[in-house]
Amino acid sequence: MCGIVGILGKEAVALPLVDALRRLEYRGYDSAGVATLEGGEIVRRRAEGKLRNLESKLGRDPLNGTIGIGHTRWATHGRPTEANAHPHATGRLAVVHNGIIENFRDLREELTADGARFQSDTDTEVVAHLVTREIDRGLTPLAAVHATLVRLRGAFSLGFIFAGEEDLIIGARRGSPLAIGYGDGEMYLGSDAIALAPFTDMVAYLDDGDSVALTHNSATIYDDARRQVHRPVQKSQASAMIVDKGNHRHFMSKEIHEQPEVVSHTLASFVDMVDETIRLPENLPFDWRNLRRLTISACGTASFAGMIAKYWFERYARLPVEVDIASEFRYREAPLEEGGLAIFVSQSGETADTLAALRYCKEQGQHTLAVVNVPTSTIARDSDVVVRTLAGPEIGVASTKAFTCQLAALASLAIGAGKARGTLSVEQERELVHALIETPRLMAEALHLEHEIESFSRDLAKASDVLYLGRGTSYPLSLEGALKLKEISYIHAEGYAAGELKHGPIALIDETMPVVVIAPYDHIFEKTVSNMQEVAARGGRIILITDAKGAAAASMATLKTLVLPEMPALVTPLVYSVPIQLLAYHTAVIIGTDVDQPRNLAKSVTVE
Ligand code: F6R
Repeated sequence: MCGIVGILGKEAVALPLVDALRRLEYRGYDSAGVATLEGGEIVRRRAEGKLRNLESKLGRDPLNGTIGIGHTRWATHGRPTEANAHPHATGRLAVVHNGIIENFRDLREELTADGARFQSDTDTEVVAHLVTREIDRGLTPLAAVHATLVRLRGAFSLGFIFAGEEDLIIGARRGSPLAIGYGDGEMYLGSDAIALAPFTDMVAYLDDGDSVALTHNSATIYDDARRQVHRPVQKSQASAMIVDKGNHRHFMSKEIHEQPEVVSHTLASFVDMVDETIRLPENLPFDWRNLRRLTISACGTASFAGMIAKYWFERYARLPVEVDIASEFRYREAPLEEGGLAIFVSQSGETADTLAALRYCKEQGQHTLAVVNVPTSTIARDSDVVVRTLAGPEIGVASTKAFTCQLAALASLAIGAGKARGTLSVEQERELVHALIETPRLMAEALHLEHEIESFSRDLAKASDVLYLGRGTSYPLSLEGALKLKEISYIHAEGYAAGELKHGPIALIDETMPVVVIAPYDHIFEKTVSNMQEVAARGGRIILITDAKGAAAASMATLKTLVLPEMPALVTPLVYSVPIQLLAYHTAVIIGTDVDQPRNLAKSVTVE
C-alpha cells in the first residue's frame, strides 16, 4: 500500500516527513517524495526506489518549509519513475494519494479537453487538476476538495497542501484509512498511527467518507454529507506495537475494514490499471500452455480460497484442477505427472501440513508456486515461484483480509493463465480485469451494510446450529462462512452446496435453525430459490445475501435479505466475503467470546 504523511510544524518538516515514511516502509513501496511550501510556493523532491535516495536528494537540495506532505508509492497506474512519484502538483496545490481512482481515464480526458497539462501517467494527477480547476473557479481549498470528491469513484485516501496557505492541510478518505495526530501547536496526518508515532500518540481515525481541514491548532472533520463531526481522540499504542486496532474494538474488525485497501494493493501487483490487462511474474519456470493439470493444497480458510480458484482456473484457463486439504493430500500418495504445477496457499507460509504437501510435490517433480502473505516464510523460501498477497500483518486469528487477498491473487493468476493458454480473448481479459479493478470499491460498499448485519447477528447469536448454503463459487464461500462463525462464536455451523441440501442436511431444518444463503443473481439463482423454498416449507429461517435482482426474484415472507451491489460473477467471492465475515464477527461480539484469540486456536499451525 502507498503511505501518506502530512505535518503542520514549527520547524522544517522535510526530514521528519521522511522519518514518518520510514515507519510505513512495511507496507512496501517503490518511490517516494515530499512537498512543502517555501515563500508560499509548492516545492517538491521525489525519487525512485528507497527512501535513502529521497534523503540524499534532500541532503543535496534541502527543503525548509514548515508545512508539508510526504508519500511512499507502490505503483498502480504508471511505472515507478520519479515523474509518477507523489506528491503530484499544479501551481495551486500538491496532493498525495493512496488507493485507486477508478474513473481517472474519463476525468483525464475531460480535464485535457479543458486545457489541463498532465505530467505523469498516474490516476492521482486528475485529483490535482480537478481541485485546481475548482479553485480557479473561485472556491476555497476545502470547498474545491469537497467538489472534487463527488467526482471520484474508487477506494482511496488523499492529503493536500495549497500554495499560499501556510496553515492548512486537507485530508479525505473513502475506503483507505487515514489518521490525524494531535501535537502541541503542530498537527499531523498519516495513513496510520505507526507513521505518526515519532510525533504524537494522540490520534483520531477518520471514518469512511470523512474529510478534515487541519491547521496548526485544530482539526475540523466533516462526514460524507459535509456535516461537521467529532471523531474520538485516543492514545495510540503504535509506538509499542507495529500495528494497533485503530478505531476498532478488535483486530478482526480492523482487518475486515482494511480489505478494500489491501485487496487493491494485492491486485496492483498483477493488474495493469491503465491497459486493464494482467501481467504475471516473468521468467516462470513452467509454461502455462503445456500444463495438463493443476494441484492446489492448503488448510482451512486458505483451502477454501483454493476451492474458489478451481472454478476460475477451470472456467477461464480450461485447466483441470485438483484441490485438496494439505493434511489429506500429504499422505494420499497422489500420482502426479512430472512437470505439473502445484500451488500452495498460506497466510503464514509456515503451516506444517501445507509445507509437507509442498515437499511431497517437489519430490514428485512438480513446479511449485506459493501464494503467501509472509514473504520470508518457509513455504515461500521452498517454492519455485512466490506470489505475494499484500494483506499486511494479520493479527486476528480468524483469517479475513488474508483470505480476500488470496482470492485477488488467485483470480489474477487464473486470468493470466487463460491469457497465456489462449482460452480468453483480449476483450474477455479486459472485462475480467475491469471487474477486478472495481472490487475494492464494491467491498467498501459492502462494508456499509454493517449496521444491518449487526442486527441480523442478534438472531444468529441465539442459535445453536447454523447452516450456510451456496452454489458455484458461493459453495466454498459457504464453507468459509460456517468456519468463520464456528471458530469465533463457538456456534456449530456447516456449509453445504445448496444442491446437496435434499441429500441429507434438510433433515436438520426446523424453526430453530437459521440458514444463511449466499446467492448472487446468476444463471443458477432459480435453483437456489427452490432450495430456499424447501427450507422455508420446514420453518427454517433464512438470511439471504444477494443483489437487487436476487432480492426481487426471491421475495418470500420468511426471508431476511442483505442486498449487495450487482457485480460480475468473477468478483462475487471477494465482495460477498465481507458480509460473511461481519456476520460471524458481530455474532461473536454479541456472545462475548474472545474474538481475536478464540479458544484452542493458533494463528500459525506449525504442528501436524
Ligand atoms: C481460519 C484460519 C485457518 C487458516 C489455516 C491455514 O480463519 O485462519 O483455517 O486459514 O490454519 O493457515 P495458513 O493460511 O497460515 O496456512
